[in-house]
Amino acid sequence: MTTKTLVRAVLEDNVGRFISGESLARRLHVSRNAVWRAVKSLQEEGCAITAVTNRGYCLSQFGDALTESSLRRYFPNGENRWTIHVFDTISSTNTVLKEMAEQGEPEGTILIASEQTAGRGRMGRRFFSPAGTGVYLSMLLRPLFSPEQSLYITTAAAVAVAEAIEFVTGRETKIKWVNDVYLNGKKLCGILTEASFDMESKRLAYAIPGIGINMRTPPDGYPEELKPIVTSVFDGIDYDTEKRNRIVAEVITRFWNFYEHLTDKPFLRGYQKRSLLEGQKVDVINGRERSAATAMEIDDDFRLHVRYPDGREEYLQSGEVSVKPRAFTEL
Ligand code: BTN
Repeated sequence: MTTKTLVRAVLEDNVGRFISGESLARRLHVSRNAVWRAVKSLQEEGCAITAVTNRGYCLSQFGDALTESSLRRYFPNGENRWTIHVFDTISSTNTVLKEMAEQGEPEGTILIASEQTAGRGRMGRRFFSPAGTGVYLSMLLRPLFSPEQSLYITTAAAVAVAEAIEFVTGRETKIKWVNDVYLNGKKLCGILTEASFDMESKRLAYAIPGIGINMRTPPDGYPEELKPIVTSVFDGIDYDTEKRNRIVAEVITRFWNFYEHLTDKPFLRGYQKRSLLEGQKVDVINGRERSAATAMEIDDDFRLHVRYPDGREEYLQSGEVSVKPRAFTEL
């Protein structure tokens, strides 16, 4: 970590309080001059640090910027299993992390951005990721379980997001089979898991769940085509930077707790109980074919149980078909 990151972290932990340059230098084992240079550089970046002779430095308020230290404060004590890189802007956290994975980057590296210029969604679609409205993150996994169980990565991520939002905001979320998180009938989070299969070991060389969460509605609103179908965590309530940071930290912590016991599926009930589709009239889409059905429960293998009007029943496997609720259009 650079002196700048460390200085910022200490000031953030003591927001509103003055800390002398000498004390900072002692704590961080650097010179007072190095502290001064770090503060100057932070000020130039727009960080609200006040410097007063004989008193020291004081961070008067949190900036809106997403930083590693603003997340770390919400991780369990002493947590250091992740290497986190935070970007103001990036092409796509999944694309960049994939390149890093190919170069041998170890498990636990996490990329987080406030803007993506080439955010990707499922089925080659683009994922709307403008600056200052959402958080986009990707996590590098090197799983030892069988590739057949890789669907659990996506479902675990969906529950981690749903739980994190509920925990921090108290708002009730739903999960639309198989990997979208919804609030008040609209999508607020999409998940794209990408993986590379190693032919020799017959295992996954790596897997990258990429999560995009709409935190607040853009000042000019969503593009026309998205307006009826997407929403954001803070839609209709006061936006709160600290809560946003906490949600991101909770998503990571909760996901990783699930991942450590992934094959036991500790997130299964959390997934089933939030099923958006249960009891709804849906269209089951298989290639060009579209059949009306009623969605039932999600089974213990994350298959969606559906009943057709002629009484026939089926357990749908994710990836084979897509399902759209009849009541509203889906993204
Ligand atoms: C979808 O809803 O189709 C999936 C969207 C996944 C978006 C996330 S944002 C972080 C990561 N980087 C990307 O380019 N995509 C995923």
